[in-house]
Amino acid sequence: MRQRKNFKSGKDARELPRREEPPPEFDFDLFKYTKILGLPILLALGIAYYLNPAIFTDAIQAYMGYSDNEMSRIMPGQDKPDFLADAHKRDAIVVAFKHAWLAYERDAMGDDEYHPISHEGTNLTAAGGIGYTVVDSIDTMLLMGLHQEYSRAREWVANKMTFDRNATFNTFETTIRVLGGLLSAYHLSKEDQIYLEKAVELADRILPVFNTPSGLPFTNVNLALREGRIDPSWPEFVSSSEVATLQLEFRYLSVLTGNSIYWEKAEAVMQTMKRGLMPHGLASIFLNWQTGEFVLSAMRLGSRADSYYEYLLKQYLQTNNTEVVYREMYSDAMDAVHKHLIKKSINSNMVYTSELIPERHPNGEISWRLTPKQDHLVCFFGGSLMLGATTTGALVHPVSIPPRPEELSESGKRDWKTGVNLIKTCMDTHSTATGLAPEIAHFRIASDGIGLDPRFPSDWYIKGAHMKPDELPPYDSRYILRPETVESLFLAYRLTGHDKYRNWAWEIFQAIETHCRVDTGGYASIINVDEVPSRKEDKMETFMMSETLKYLYLIFADARVLPLDKYVLNTEAHPLPILDIPPNLLS
Ligand SMILES: *[C@@H]1O[C@H](CO)[C@@H](O)[C@H](O)[C@H]1NC(C)=O
Ligand SMILES: *[C@@H]1O[C@H](CO)[C@@H](O)[C@H](O)[C@H]1NC(C)=O
Ligand SMILES: *[C@@H]1O[C@H](CO)[C@@H](O)[C@H](O)[C@H]1NC(C)=O
Repeated sequence: MRQRKNFKSGKDARELPRREEPPPEFDFDLFKYTKILGLPILLALGIAYYLNPAIFTDAIQAYMGYSDNEMSRIMPGQDKPDFLADAHKRDAIVVAFKHAWLAYERDAMGDDEYHPISHEGTNLTAAGGIGYTVVDSIDTMLLMGLHQEYSRAREWVANKMTFDRNATFNTFETTIRVLGGLLSAYHLSKEDQIYLEKAVELADRILPVFNTPSGLPFTNVNLALREGRIDPSWPEFVSSSEVATLQLEFRYLSVLTGNSIYWEKAEAVMQTMKRGLMPHGLASIFLNWQTGEFVLSAMRLGSRADSYYEYLLKQYLQTNNTEVVYREMYSDAMDAVHKHLIKKSINSNMVYTSELIPERHPNGEISWRLTPKQDHLVCFFGGSLMLGATTTGALVHPVSIPPRPEELSESGKRDWKTGVNLIKTCMDTHSTATGLAPEIAHFRIASDGIGLDPRFPSDWYIKGAHMKPDELPPYDSRYILRPETVESLFLAYRLTGHDKYRNWAWEIFQAIETHCRVDTGGYASIINVDEVPSRKEDKMETFMMSETLKYLYLIFADARVLPLDKYVLNTEAHPLPILDIPPNLLS
């Protein structure tokens, strides 16, 4: 691996890292070679073609994938391009992205959120938009090489976007979508300063949220007044995932600006959490922002906890495997997750994750109830476990693709296997009438009454889904264009090279096309994955363009686009480079 020193010397206080040299251009001139080598090579090529006609189409596809894609040219290349693009499918994803973006741009450009059926936009607050959808989509356009769409989006950011909004915004969502989107746009646009300026401005407006007795950030922030705000529904609490999913973004900003304040604030959160962790190693979903202690509350891998686990691993990877504290926290957490939350279903031994819910009894005692409920959100975890296995669980670096058993530690082998199996389970939750997975799946257990009822043949079910015709389906049966399964398929494909992951991704994409696509433009959530034709809901979440379509694109693209040894993707799928940490920022 070539790696240049990342920091310029100079008087500029803002020391900016240099990008890596682009890989050499693809240089294959058949004529040149035939002149030198003549007939023998033509004969050999002829025989090769006779034996395997695909080698030429593959080579051409690889070449096309390489040359017609802006980002794969400017991204650092892998030493050996193992994975060729599936140009046909990759381009179908680009068509889908344009179907989503152009409708938004036509109907709602600049508004935070988009409603594709009514053709309207809305803002998160009455004070006006903050670029929620535009900024979330920019790096996907850069990766896909959509130059015209990109330049219009950039113009909007440069001329129309402002964070001077006197209203309350969620700290975590604003960070992962807007700050994360600006940082990756900065990196992928070859350091277009506009994005860094906006990122600094936004982060400076967010920073006051960390001014609490514990250092845990407030759930909300007023961006104009630069003040942290409690969450009125949980005035004393903050969520584990929300406070522990700001670190990749704030750390990268410190490295870009040379100003360590962002990193210090974000890192203090991790120290507080580490101190507060209970011996079992799991994070409950709430903490008290005054004392910094964990609060008696559910423990799970789903909402309010998910990306705490994701970022433990990714912080270690982002710091180029130097911050050992995150590796240790991650290893402890994975042991605990295996001990307490990973279960197998009763009939076909499907691996799934359950939740532990505390219950207070009349005599004051507390017990933990195991609830076999798996959010779609948890489906990120299969790919994350596989990524962790090949890094924190690896005995050699880099491991083979796929890793050989002897290259992994015992816990690495365990995590790999659980990850592979969890992805299989997540794919099983796609065996619905639409081929799309529900928001929440429950797994049958012997004690739940219906657990062994032969009328429910599957190992999992959608709770409350047996409704009468005119009732609205339960919340659990929705699919809101979530990315987590395809996120795992992307990682699994890159780490194994197995075509089945591409095939599964294609099935999911086709299900989205069939059941969520709005003919006039955009994609909509559907309210019941088991109903055909689907009933749509008038909302296209911003993560459709920032995550779902990006991961699908990456699955079919050449693996030189965003190689996993050079990038971590934030929890909103914004790619950030793995850092060569300057010594003054090391704790
Ligand atoms: C959203 O905010 C922007 C900026 O203030 C404004 O121009 C736009 O009209 C707002 N959209 C809606 C639907 O209110
Ligand atoms: C911000 O909004 C609040 C409540 O809507 C208002 O009372 C206050 O004056 C506003 N502050 C500024 C600086 O606009
Ligand atoms: C990460 O560390 C490895 C081994 O020390 C080094 O070869 C590589 O260049 C580093 N990568 C980055 C992005 O700094």
